[in-house]
Amino acid sequence: MAKLTPTTKKKLRARSRLVHLGRDGEASRGFINIPPFRGSTVLYPDYATLKSRKQRYTYGTHGTPTSDALCEAWAAISGAAGAVLVPSGLSAIIVALTTALSSGDHLLVTDAAYQPARIYCNTILKRMGVETTYYDPAIGAGIEALLRDNTRAVFVEAPGSQSLDMQDVPAIAAAAKSRGACVIMDNTWATPLFFSPHEHGVDLAVEAGTKYLSGHSDILLGLVTANADWFERLHRTVDLLAIPPGPEDVFLALRGLRTMELRLREAERQALALALWLKGRPEVLRVLHPALEDYVGHAIWRRDFRGSSGLFSVVLKPAPEPAVAAMLDSLELFGLGYSWAGFESLVIPFDCSTYRTATRWAPGGPCLRFSVGLEDIEDLKEDLDRGFARLSAAAG
Ligand SMILES: Cc1ncc(COP(=O)(O)O)c(C=O)c1O
Repeated sequence: MAKLTPTTKKKLRARSRLVHLGRDGEASRGFINIPPFRGSTVLYPDYATLKSRKQRYTYGTHGTPTSDALCEAWAAISGAAGAVLVPSGLSAIIVALTTALSSGDHLLVTDAAYQPARIYCNTILKRMGVETTYYDPAIGAGIEALLRDNTRAVFVEAPGSQSLDMQDVPAIAAAAKSRGACVIMDNTWATPLFFSPHEHGVDLAVEAGTKYLSGHSDILLGLVTANADWFERLHRTVDLLAIPPGPEDVFLALRGLRTMELRLREAERQALALALWLKGRPEVLRVLHPALEDYVGHAIWRRDFRGSSGLFSVVLKPAPEPAVAAMLDSLELFGLGYSWAGFESLVIPFDCSTYRTATRWAPGGPCLRFSVGLEDIEDLKEDLDRGFARLSAAAG
């Protein structure tokens, strides 16, 4: 394999890093890709090595050459001190929260957070004695007023993965830090390629590797990165929990890493084109996409982000539910399903009013979230044309 000197390694741009980092010629015996390592037991060559506790691989729950390779590469592109892997994006959120919180602590969570994360806060964290307060995602530096003496963590997600609410992460992080609270971010939408969490004050950054890292909707994976202040605590927590992802999934994620930038750039290009087209449709009230100039969070996005991904939402003009159902059922290319960032375009209906508590969600019409895949954009438009015709016919 290519032999990177430490100086070159440091200087590589993101795209080259994705190709060259996390490679271990020795572990893969010269083959380009490191294979999945399966197993529980790792043998020691002798008694002295076992007693020394210095052997890198000791047991299946504590890492393999494949997971190390992915962690090294992901930490590098995230600008982090280190990364850990877990079996899903939701478990990554849970590990980050568990790293930062103890009984008696107070937690602040954006009202636009991924809904299952809220459920974890409202059930298990509550039972463990952690109190959660939800806040308006647009709060910015105003979060100061919500910080209590026992606020130990502030959770941000920018933009929110349904409502696309932007957040002023640096302002929130500065206020949280001034009071010693840990800043946790779900950075799945942008990935570290489009938003550098740790440069913007985030301590623990979560990525659902299920999405763009995989890109093929065939694995579940979570990653958490930490800055130097938090990495040791994060590593200790995940080691104690002993929840490694499956070896095959780690292998596939490492493989996905090599082409992630290309897929993400294409998703960005396709989603922007579709968002602009949807903006001109008579059935659409509003398009929620941070890269659109008239979007409410656009200035923050432009200031802090390097790109936009393939996930955005629209608010339709008021229409009865059966008409929206007829539209969705008539689509042939857009699949109806959860998750996102795969090669196939997806759509789901959503309604944040069913779970938001700190802010009122009244968008003015039914909402649809699109994950734009790699199909030809003209075919996608034709599919939606068909869908809108059904919507209008059914709405009468
Ligand atoms: C923003 C966001 N974070 C986390 C997750 C959870 O990822 P996973 O499906 O791997 O648990 C999702 C899944 O849809 C998501 O959209």
